[in-house]
Amino acid sequence: MTWKFAAPLVLGTFAATITMAQDMAPFGTDKDVAYADRVWEAMMDQNLAGDGAIRSFPYDGLEPHGLMLETFYTSATIDGHEGALVIKRNYGPEGVTADDVLMAPEDHLGAVTVMFKREEGYDSDNQNWFWAKYLPDGSLDKNPKDMRLAGRVAKGMDAGCIACHTSAPGGDYLFTTDHIPK
Ligand code: HEC
Repeated sequence: MTWKFAAPLVLGTFAATITMAQDMAPFGTDKDVAYADRVWEAMMDQNLAGDGAIRSFPYDGLEPHGLMLETFYTSATIDGHEGALVIKRNYGPEGVTADDVLMAPEDHLGAVTVMFKREEGYDSDNQNWFWAKYLPDGSLDKNPKDMRLAGRVAKGMDAGCIACHTSAPGGDYLFTTDHIPK
């Protein structure tokens, strides 16, 4: 006869566990998404995202980023913390040329992948990088499990942003340069 009381208790514990798991997930939480929105705003402020964004000459890329790429190095201040900001525009589809991208960038932009150096202690295992993959409109792309790609993306997993970037030369998670301040 005590089950009536026990059931809500068990359910309550279960719900608390789910909430905790959501907060502790390395990426895709509401907090990560809110932070990613602020990073996107900082990019808009610097005219590095959105309509009429600054452009460079696209170069040949390779998967998983696009077949044509543009990369920008800057810094931004988010919540009072200034950090390095690296932006990669990923263009496609297969067969896309630099001319195609130059003529109509918006028709070929597939995604915008970003690394932002967060405050000390954010992710000390991985040099405190915050990772995000945006769609051209600034919303976040998702993985096949429907998790939004923002935060410590795929931390601890065998594949994904962190796992792959670990092999970048210079041990700074950056493939294209070794000259971003630590
Ligand atoms: C399988 C390997 C791999 C995965 C997974 C990967 N990247 Fe990259 N990434 C690269 C390579 C290689 C480059 C250099 C591309 C070039 O030539 O510009 C790169 C470049 C970048 C850059 C430009 C800075 C740099 O390293 O030169 C950013 C930003 C970036 N990736 C973000 C991401 C994000 C965010 C994710 C996850 C959503 C991700 N990457 C997943 C391999 C990977």
